[in-house]
Amino acid sequence: MSRTHDERRSRRLARMRARAFGGDRRSDRLLREIVDAAEDEIEAAESGLAGRVSRKLGPKGRFLAFAILIGVMITTASIYYERRVVETAVRADWQDPVLVSEGRALYRDNCAFCHGDALEGQSGWDGDFPRGHRPALPLDGTAPIWRLSDDDIFDVIKYGGQPFSPRSYKNDMPGFEMQIPDAGIWALVAFIKSRWSEETRDRQEEEAAMRRPPE
Ligand code: HEC
Repeated sequence: MSRTHDERRSRRLARMRARAFGGDRRSDRLLREIVDAAEDEIEAAESGLAGRVSRKLGPKGRFLAFAILIGVMITTASIYYERRVVETAVRADWQDPVLVSEGRALYRDNCAFCHGDALEGQSGWDGDFPRGHRPALPLDGTAPIWRLSDDDIFDVIKYGGQPFSPRSYKNDMPGFEMQIPDAGIWALVAFIKSRWSEETRDRQEEEAAMRRPPE
């Protein structure tokens, strides 16, 4: 908007105000002034970029552009919300669909290779392996994963299996401390738990309660 236009407008408004409050009743002139001012505004808006674009688009185009804008806003907001949920996760809420779907993606990219697409583990996992090198265990509740609390599972994923095994036992579960942030590891635990039966989840809870010191 040009300066001269601004100046013209403010002078006109001042005159209008003076007349409106100054007892001068030439209302038809006042009305013309108002219409002039409004026309100036419209002209200024239309010569602006937004006005030119909007005129080019026509009513259909304007509607489409508006719909796209709303769509983009909703998508941005929901991505932001999901990021926040995932980045701030501090526990394995397996009923949180956003966290679980983040965990599912992380699982596919980092774990399915060894533990299988359906968390079924590698065949032969239940053999005897006194020196270690056990095949990857099922994580779906087929193996006794319920003996591990959420924190235990978190630690095994973060630090790998070796720190929790005797030195004579070679544990082939790698640690993901460098690849996956803590919140992502919670997402993984949430996803794994979401795949358990109700019974497995209850059993994990009972085991944890038994280990907890009495109040
Ligand atoms: C290179 C193969 C490999 C990859 C990749 C891998 N694991 Fe493992 N994982 C193993 C093996 C092998 C074991 C069993 C170790 C043992 O008991 O000797 C195991 C054990 C585990 C256990 C302990 C299960 C139990 O009942 O004791 C959990 C939990 C686990 N893995 C989760 C994961 C997750 C989550 C990922 C992905 C972030 C992952 N693993 C990636 C090989 C792998």
